[in-house]
Amino acid sequence: MDRAFADRLNEIEPFRVVEVLTRAKELEAEGRDIVHLEAGEPDFSTARPIIEEAQASLNRGETYYSQAAGIPALREAISRHYQQDYGLDIPASRIMVTPGASGALLLISALLINPSDSMLMADPGYPCNRHFLRLVEGQGQLIPVGPEERFQLNAAKARQHWQSNTAGVLVASPANPTGEILTRDELTDLRDLCEEKNGHLIVDEIYHGLTYGEDAPSVLSITDKAYVINSFSKYFGMTGWRLGWLVAPEAAVPELEKLAQNLFISMSTMSQFAALKAFEPETRALLDERRDEFARRRDYLLPELRRLGFDIPNTPAGALYLYAGISKFSNDSQQFCMDMLEKHGVAITPGADFGRHRANEYVRFAYTTSMDRLKEAVRRLEKVLS
Ligand SMILES: Cc1ncc(COP(=O)(O)O)c(C=O)c1O
Repeated sequence: MDRAFADRLNEIEPFRVVEVLTRAKELEAEGRDIVHLEAGEPDFSTARPIIEEAQASLNRGETYYSQAAGIPALREAISRHYQQDYGLDIPASRIMVTPGASGALLLISALLINPSDSMLMADPGYPCNRHFLRLVEGQGQLIPVGPEERFQLNAAKARQHWQSNTAGVLVASPANPTGEILTRDELTDLRDLCEEKNGHLIVDEIYHGLTYGEDAPSVLSITDKAYVINSFSKYFGMTGWRLGWLVAPEAAVPELEKLAQNLFISMSTMSQFAALKAFEPETRALLDERRDEFARRRDYLLPELRRLGFDIPNTPAGALYLYAGISKFSNDSQQFCMDMLEKHGVAITPGADFGRHRANEYVRFAYTTSMDRLKEAVRRLEKVLS
């Protein structure tokens, strides 16, 4: 039996950062000291009350499948979160718990995409999105965006690229890899465009809560027709627990439940009980302290990188990243990242991980390590780049 793998595999690319990580691990095994600025996850481990609740739920015997849409208590808790943090009335019946934002992206792709449909999305952007679409025989239509529009796909650009097979627009705010947010006006314009074209609007709000100085507006405050993706991974610091959620228009929920029953049966029950503690005031206070630490790191790293010659014209308001132009140093970001790692022990991610548009001119710095280590990274970069 040597039947070939499916054609779609040719269009699903690996994360290049994995190459950086693998090499970083090898170097560390040889005794080298590496500063890690490549990981897209908070370096803080999950808050204690969440861990304790997971243990308690296991001790109670909560070891079975849950409802496909999530345990009712968690859907209710997320609904209250929208009330408390956003002043929005989002009933639990519109909320589905998912296996991470990744699970939400898969469900929404399966729900909305027919073969050969496309979704407009920003390039650079989160790479897995177009792969989810490919999995359901659709495609990501990558729209080049640059510093002029703060690396976000706006309605004017989306209109320009809208085609007969375009099913809608998928944006993230704050975005990966740029940390840029969409303003209320920009979201409103996208909503208007999608309504006019009878398309879908999907907003990935996974980095909500990780904004510094200004809030990222939720599209849910503008329309109840959009699909919103969120997660316990980033602000809530639960990457390894594989838990997220989506908010959908009421009519879509039974269809999403049907998909979830088939694709996952349920999320981790332990993780869902644990996540109930994520919204408790005691936990939130801790998470907000961590957010403030991310803000301090951004405020340190951004001017330092600019001083060294990296091009970062706007100050990104959120997420965990700085997307930096390297044209002063190199026109090959993959090689640049490998050199920084091999010769100077600083691990960063090449732009090619996030799309094709001018990808060779950019790298992503993730400030997911301590201030001391950030300072060490700057010292090392300064030695070679100045
Ligand atoms: C923009 C964006 N969306 C979705 C995800 C997936 O996150 P998770 O499945 O851990 O919730 C990530 C992870 O880095 C991301 O950056």
